[in-house]
Parts: sequence; C-alpha cells; structure tokens
Amino acid sequence: MKNFRLLLPLAIFAITFSSCLKDDVKVQSYHYTESQWKAISENLDLPESPLEYSVQLPQHVLNSGAFAAPVNNDKATLGRVLFYDTRLSKTEAVSCASCHDQSLAFADNKAFSEGFDGQLTKRNSLALGAVVSFSATYQGGNDDSFVSNNGARFFWDERAGSVQEQSSQTIADDIEMGMEMSDVKKRLEGVDYYEALFEAAYGEEGITEDNILDAISSFINAMGSFNSKFDQAAAGLGFVSPFTDFDAFTAQENQGKQLYMNSCASCHGTSFSSPAVLTANNGLDEVYTDQGVGAVTNNASLDGVFKVPPLRNIALTGPYMHDGRFATLEEVVDHYSTGIKNHRNLNPELKVFNSSSQGAPIQFNFTAEEKAALVAFLKTLTDNEFIAAERFADPFK
Ligand code: HEC
Ligand code: HEC
Repeated sequence: MKNFRLLLPLAIFAITFSSCLKDDVKVQSYHYTESQWKAISENLDLPESPLEYSVQLPQHVLNSGAFAAPVNNDKATLGRVLFYDTRLSKTEAVSCASCHDQSLAFADNKAFSEGFDGQLTKRNSLALGAVVSFSATYQGGNDDSFVSNNGARFFWDERAGSVQEQSSQTIADDIEMGMEMSDVKKRLEGVDYYEALFEAAYGEEGITEDNILDAISSFINAMGSFNSKFDQAAAGLGFVSPFTDFDAFTAQENQGKQLYMNSCASCHGTSFSSPAVLTANNGLDEVYTDQGVGAVTNNASLDGVFKVPPLRNIALTGPYMHDGRFATLEEVVDHYSTGIKNHRNLNPELKVFNSSSQGAPIQFNFTAEEKAALVAFLKTLTDNEFIAAERFADPFK
C-alpha cells in the first residue's frame, strides 16, 4: 500500500512528462510548413516526414557486384505522386501506374496496354519490379556521378539510355500519354500540394521540366525487389551458387534451380542481380514483325533481338515476351523445351553445336517433372514485401 501511494504520483508525472516529450518530438519531425502540410494532407495520404527510399541491398546481392544509387527521400516522394497522377496524360485517363501496377510488380496483366485515348501500345509493358534495384541494373541513375555496374538500357529495344530519357519519351508518346513536357509543367503549376512537394525536394527551383523527370527517376531508382523466397534462401547461404542447393527450398524448387542454372542463367543471370547477356534473339518465330533492336539501330544482324528481361517477380508479370504471346510460365517453358525457332539471329546459347548439328535450335526436351520444377523455381522469385510496400503505393486520397 505504502509503495502504491508513492508510485501513483510518480506514474502521473511519468505520463505527463512522456506525453510532453511526444509532442516535442512531433514538432521537431514536422517536415513541411503548416500551410504546405495542409495542402498535402488534404489530398494525399503521405506521412509528415518522407519515408526512406534509399536501397540497402542485402549481402548476397552486394557480393554479386551490384550496388544501388543513393536516393533523396523528398524527390522520391514527389516522384511517387507524379507516378500515380493522371495529369501526366493528355486526356487525364492514364498515369504511369495504369500500365505499371504495384501488385503486379509494376507490370500489367495485358499483352498490350491501353494508352490515354484507348489505343494499344505496340509492346508488352515491362515490369519495373523485375530488378534487384533499378539503379543497379540500369545505366545512369539521376545522379551523373553514379555509374551502375552494367550497361543495361531501357525498353524492349533498349532505345533509351536513362530513366529521364525513357520517361520523357513515354510522356510524349502518341499512344501512351500524348503530352509535351511543357504542358505537364503548366498543369502542375498552381496545384498547391505540388508547389509544396517541389519546394521540399528542389528548394527555390520549384517546378521545372527537368525536376519533374528527376523526381520520377528518383522514385523508379528506389524500386527494387530483394525479399523473395529465393533471396531469403540466398541470404542464409550468403551467396548464390549454381551448384549448392538451398536448405530453405523444396526438392522440386532445388531441381528447378539446377535446371535454370544449366539452361537459362547464361542469359538471365545466376543471382538475378544483373543480366548475363543484355539483348538476344530467343527464337520466338522464324520471321518477326517487330524487329526490336534491329529497327532502332538499322542493323539487320540485330533484327528480332530484344532486351533479355530481368526475371524477379516473374510469376506476377504475365503475359510474357515483348508481344505478350505467352499467358503462363508453363507456355514459356514449353517454348524453350521444344518450340525454339531457327531465326537467323538466334543467340548461340540456344543452338546446338555437335558433330551432327552445327547451329540448329536447341531442344531442351524437358520432362513434365522438369517443367513443373522450373516453374516452381521461377515462383520463388516473388517478393510479397515489395508489392505491398507503402513507399511505392498510390498516395492519392
Ligand atoms: C499506356 C501504358 C503505359 C504508360 C501510361 C506508361 N508506360 Fe512505361 N512502359 C509501357 C510499355 C508498353 C513499355 C515497354 C515499351 C517498349 O519497350 O517499347 C514500358 C516501359 C517502361 C520502362 C522501361 C523498363 C525497362 O526495363 O526497360 C520504364 C522505366 C517505364 N515504362 C516507366 C514508366 C513511367 C515512369 C511512366 C509514367 C511517366 C510510364 N512508364 C507510363 C507502358 C506504359
Ligand atoms: C539466349 C539467351 C536466353 C536464354 C538462354 C534464355 N532466355 Fe529467356 N528470354 C531471352 C530473351 C531475349 C527474352 C525476351 C524475348 C522477346 O520478348 O522477344 C526472354 C524472355 C523470357 C521470359 C519472359 C519475360 C517477360 O518479362 O516477358 C521468361 C519467363 C524467360 N525468358 C525464361 C527463360 C527460361 C526459363 C530459360 C531457360 C529454360 C530461358 N529464359 C533461357 C533470352 C534468353
């Protein structure tokens, strides 16, 4: 009883004191001015202090030589809002997210996507969440001093060299968004929450065409997926080896991993950190209607050559290939098993060279069990944390 009497005032003091402390902390962490916060919070579901966007790659990924560009949290926060804003398209019908949906690892589920006036894109939307880190996989972050460890470029035909270039082409594209950058800028000016967000990110420079693209690219550079079952298993081991089974995998997944390492990794890479080959022809047809890299470079030896797509979250990003011709992973595996066509630019990795055959398309002839194992392995690349992460979600109320 005696103790209790002593404790009660102490407890009251502690509660009062800690609630004062809490208020203090709240005021100190207040990131925007009061009027800025009012404009932001009325329209957007954003925290008072920006979320963390810098990518901390796990050790098994760092060991593969990948490293990520630093990301500024205010710029990425602004980029997140722009990414989900339909003001970026002429008719205000689509945003970047219309064709790049977070729950599908920033792909969509159609062979071709609908642009601002209902026309269809000529190619399948690329999954932005197929990489371990966007800036680590692709050339040129938004910081000129940053050079990634490999030279992958953007789009199926690799026609863009940076996210800024890619985004301005996408915004201007007469099927996708149909907007001039100067018109985008005009639309954003005078929107009170954009004025606040641009000021937080770029100070007095405020809303400029370059800053719009820079913010979008900051958001995209923050994307990356490294929390799949595959990564958790690799983290346990500290590295990815074609020869070592993962304890955390089922026997079927390990069988699929082995098959993948033997037949697929020579192009798609062993650790899914960077592609082993940047572009290739994988024998979809004998004659292509879309020439891919060949059309961009005007070089017939690159006709039918396309980006070797990164495969993280691949189970979520169907349909597959540049024209979305395969609906399921089973169909993809069937293609590699018995369907590879003899295109004149077919990559040597998919040809047979022996005494009886000099360069015919390979027939992996996977058994039903092997096909199922390959698909089971590809499904270990799904990262449920990434597709639900608040920092990448639609911020509009
Ligand atoms: C109408 C659908 C559509 C809209 C809207 C759209 N995209 Fe895309 N995106 C695509 C398609 C289709 C491709 C592949 C095009 C190609 O390779 O020719 C693509 C490719 C990309 C790539 C290249 C990825 C890689 O791995 O090479 C990036 C990055 C990208 N989009 C980001 C964006 C951003 C940022 C926006 C908004 C400014 C946006 N997209 C708006 C459909 C769309
Ligand atoms: C010669 C290099 C090469 C090899 C080897 C290879 N691929 Fe591919 N892969 C590609 C290219 C190039 C594409 C895109 C082709 C296109 O769309 O025109 C592709 C596309 C894919 C896609 C579709 C990705 C998407 O986002 O649409 C999957 C899945 C895939 N490959 C899985 C595999 C599997 C499984 C194996 C092994 C059985 C394999 N690949 C072997 C080069 C290769």
